[in-house]
Amino acid sequence: MQDQLNALRLEAENAISVAKTTSDLDETEVRYLGRKGRLTDMLKMLSGVSAEERPKLGALANDIKRQLEIMLASRRKQLEEEQYSKLSETERADVTEPGNRPPEGHLHPMTKAINEITEIFERIGFVRTRYPEVDWDFYAFESLNMPKDHPARDEWETFFMDAPVSKKGKMVLTPHTSNSQVRELERGEFPVRMINIAKCYRRQIDATHVPMFHQFEGLYVDKGVSIAHLRGVLDYFAQEFFGPERKTRLRPYHFRFTEPSFEIDITCGVCGGTGISAEKQKCKMCKRGWLELGGAGMVHPNVLKAGGVDPKKYSGFAFGWGVERTYSMKGGLNLDDIRILYKNDLRFLKQF
Ligand code: PHE
Repeated sequence: MQDQLNALRLEAENAISVAKTTSDLDETEVRYLGRKGRLTDMLKMLSGVSAEERPKLGALANDIKRQLEIMLASRRKQLEEEQYSKLSETERADVTEPGNRPPEGHLHPMTKAINEITEIFERIGFVRTRYPEVDWDFYAFESLNMPKDHPARDEWETFFMDAPVSKKGKMVLTPHTSNSQVRELERGEFPVRMINIAKCYRRQIDATHVPMFHQFEGLYVDKGVSIAHLRGVLDYFAQEFFGPERKTRLRPYHFRFTEPSFEIDITCGVCGGTGISAEKQKCKMCKRGWLELGGAGMVHPNVLKAGGVDPKKYSGFAFGWGVERTYSMKGGLNLDDIRILYKNDLRFLKQF
């Protein structure tokens, strides 16, 4: 029995010293000293030992018990201290460390451009409207002074819908935002100061075209509207959007739905309108000092009539420009392939 007690002591001492946590230690304590623990069992067995041997064995067992208790207490203290010192290591807060910013998205550059264009026109009383982006032939072409089979229609590489034909013709994906002109006039409220920004679709895809793009269409109709108003509004826009040093010019052009018609050019932001780069070379962006913004003109009397407006009383101007194109001309952001705008490549989009 003495040997058994000594063996048990060795085993228990070993278990105490290898315990890694205080809960390991609790288990060890229960296993040896608990009510049904191994040493407790041995103490109970003392009653079966001869009276001679009992005091000696009893003293030994009690001695072992006390020693184990002391060992347990000191090991517990040691483990607790270790745990606390680790805690101060892992839970230390450096209040001067900059916080972790959660990844935050932002609007697509075209959405930002659309918002900016909207705000610029709203400041001079234009109202952003919304009209269908799948519309009847009548609004996309016919009401714009382009009768059926007119060759001018070929310039708009149109997608036709596989849909029933109505009195207003076939349905098309709007190839320009000008479908809004007659729709807006039909409302019959004057003055008309519309800015319609919408998706347009054309059967074209290459470095300078995407099949889905955006245009912003301005329409101003009232009594006595002249080309001077058109110039004033265009200069205002160019200077607000591109910067105060930019200038515009009107170049004679032809559209069926405006008369007279113009292409609007703006001085190049890279060479400042000189056509000569800082290295005394031809400017790579514009080659001649001017960049084309897009079309404009005085609303054709036939368009006013199609919208139920008397051209003897009212006149107006309209313009329609590409958002992608206008945006990429801003600050010389020279995109060599505009398709990148719609590739959802974060390496590109994160730069805006
Ligand atoms: N709709 C024309 C285009 O897509 C642009 C334009 C709009 C021209 C309004 C004149 C007036 O090219």
